[in-house]
Amino acid sequence: MIINIRSSGPKETMKIGENIAASLTSGAVIVLTGPLGCGKTVLTKGIARGLHIFDEITSPSFTIISSYTGDRQLFHIDLYRINHPEEFDELGLEEILNSSLYLNAVSVIEWGEKAKGILPEETITINFKIDSGKHRTINIAGNIAGLKS
Ligand SMILES: Nc1ncnc2c1ncn2[C@@H]1O[C@H](COP(=O)(O)OP(=O)(O)OP(=O)(O)O)[C@@H](O)[C@H]1O
Ligand SMILES: [Mg+2]
Repeated sequence: MIINIRSSGPKETMKIGENIAASLTSGAVIVLTGPLGCGKTVLTKGIARGLHIFDEITSPSFTIISSYTGDRQLFHIDLYRINHPEEFDELGLEEILNSSLYLNAVSVIEWGEKAKGILPEETITINFKIDSGKHRTINIAGNIAGLKS
């Protein structure tokens, strides 16, 4: 399934995130791709809101992995600073992705294309294109039951 959605501002991107959250199944892995400042963290904030997580979501570019709890657990991961596949082992990334199903968790991975080798087959990929100013084209590839364009 491939869906293209246009966003004309951060609030719309948050709303798209909320809608995605409502359609996710346990263990879902979502990879967010696209240039710096395209809205990956904003979308993650929307997903968190949709999961009824009330903590403030901050960009995990330094901590690499953050975990929050709402209706489900959310792992928010940012691989921007990760440059070598061996670092995935140190992070325990594969273990997190493998345990997500039984933890009733979902994982959202910014710059997740870097982890291609260890991503599950059912990974949902969401790519952002900056069209101009506040306009983004958001392309969703993968199975999200019930999500409407
Ligand atoms: N349509 C839009 N959707 C999302 N963010 C938007 C949009 N228009 C403008 N913005 C702005 O773009 C910025 C997006 O920042 P954000 O931290 O989400 O980017 P990012 O993709 O996570 O970047 P990075 O790769 O550095 O982590 C915010 O300042 C936000 O206000
Ligand atoms: Mg970010």
